[in-house]
Amino acid sequence: MAIKAELARLVEQGINLEVEENDIERPDRHADFAYPCMAASSELGRNPREIAEELADNIESELIDSMEVAGPGYLNFHMNREKYAERIDTELGSDSFGVNQKEGSVLVEFSSPNIAKPMNVGHLRNNVLGDSLRRILSFAGFDVTAENYIGDLGTQFGKVIWGHKNIESDKNFEEAPIEYMLDIYVKFHEMAEESPEIEEEAREWAKKIEEGDEEAVRLWEKFREATLEYHKDEYNRLNIKFDRITGESKVYEKSRELVESWVEEGKIKPDEDGSVFYEFEDEELPGAVILKEDGSTLYLTRDLYNLKKRNNEGYDYNLYVVASEQELHFKQLFKIAEEMGIDSSGAEHISYGMLNLPEGSMSTRRGLIIEQSEIFKKAIKMAEEKAQNEMDRQLENAEAIGIGAVKYRNLAISRKKDMEFNWDTAISFKGDSGPYLQYSNVRAKSILRKASNNGELGSEFEDEEYELLKKLAEFPEKVESAADQREPAKIANYLSTLCEDFNTFYHECEVLGSEKESQRLKLVRMFVEVTDQGLELLGIEPLDKM
Ligand code: ARG
Repeated sequence: MAIKAELARLVEQGINLEVEENDIERPDRHADFAYPCMAASSELGRNPREIAEELADNIESELIDSMEVAGPGYLNFHMNREKYAERIDTELGSDSFGVNQKEGSVLVEFSSPNIAKPMNVGHLRNNVLGDSLRRILSFAGFDVTAENYIGDLGTQFGKVIWGHKNIESDKNFEEAPIEYMLDIYVKFHEMAEESPEIEEEAREWAKKIEEGDEEAVRLWEKFREATLEYHKDEYNRLNIKFDRITGESKVYEKSRELVESWVEEGKIKPDEDGSVFYEFEDEELPGAVILKEDGSTLYLTRDLYNLKKRNNEGYDYNLYVVASEQELHFKQLFKIAEEMGIDSSGAEHISYGMLNLPEGSMSTRRGLIIEQSEIFKKAIKMAEEKAQNEMDRQLENAEAIGIGAVKYRNLAISRKKDMEFNWDTAISFKGDSGPYLQYSNVRAKSILRKASNNGELGSEFEDEEYELLKKLAEFPEKVESAADQREPAKIANYLSTLCEDFNTFYHECEVLGSEKESQRLKLVRMFVEVTDQGLELLGIEPLDKM
């Protein structure tokens, strides 16, 4: 049993009230653990200090060295360091690192770019966050399916098809498909300013795709495939994997049928022109069109069927990693589903804030939004230069370090917050950064390489050793709360302080050749194992050398 759960049980037996694992705190100083008796005090109608004193007198366990009462009614625990260390070692040494394994299947939808263009800065945080959540949730025991739900329908395709048929481009589709599609898309918009009627023609093409027109579908498939092929390389480079790629085009027909069935059953009423406007019983939410007058579907319509589909597939949880800009969309989606009898209890919008770059979001190169790949490229180059200038070193893994730096910065800020990206903070080998984590981990590995044995924990712990050990012991809890709250920042921030503790330990305690070499080597090894695993959970590559 996890140590906090065990302490909770001991307290529970003492006061005859339910006590949970999370009621046991880890105070910063003064004690290893504490139980605040203040909550129990109102239920028991007794003074909290009195309760704490009684508990201190009665609790007995070989894990605990001593207890004392502090403040308004805290019961402080001081552990038997040797026994506690053994427990931590066993826990972290298991395959799950002591993480309570959850049950259930989770669909994590993330990335989901609209096609015919490269992914841009707007996709970056999504990709990084979604990928990390996929890793964390599966490590927490869930059966996870990662889905990329491609935006492959809508007027933008009509525009590309119109452009393909009517615009001369100096780019060549066969050689550089994305460049070509982007070029005709941009030119389309320039032309549309002079001749707005081409917008209508583009919409016609978009509609033809939905209607199954042979030429429209053929071109659309060609553009869709080319985009997916292009994105594949980018995902590979970032080590992001999906279990399945779906898309709006896969659900539009069924989504129209779904709305039509609601009309037939008299659940909703179409307008005179045949379109369907959904009005909520709850006036707070603005209504929305869910079927156009020509019978074509909308983004929201397709998500409605999509939700139903995922329910039918049997997922217990259905997570949508999508920017906070779409909060209204998801509120409407979940509410319509609820009112129409589609179970939305497992559905969650995993919302996240904006990533703001100091250079703004527009690229000078094309006058379009900065591409995701440009940001990673810049980070890799900067990592190389900084290592050169600040440490006079040639990096062996600049790619993994640059990519890891950008990933870490995005994950270390809690997801709901907007973030100002600062290049110097991100690409730093010192403070709270991806390179710092990778570097601390590599440094520990280099100690292990020089060691002649595996090391083991003993019975005496100096404070620096004990602090590091205690910090290591927090790993499983951090993973659990990251999984519960869908918040990789819990792990990112934990790893950063763990690395600080490790560096303090390393600074204060000689490892190789010291009298306590065996115990210290073991601590270093535990640190390597936790940071290797922790970095994996963030999608950051742990390295052997830097
Ligand atoms: N393709 C959409 C966009 O780029 C995002 C899709 C999000 N997922 C969803 N199920 N609606 O805005």
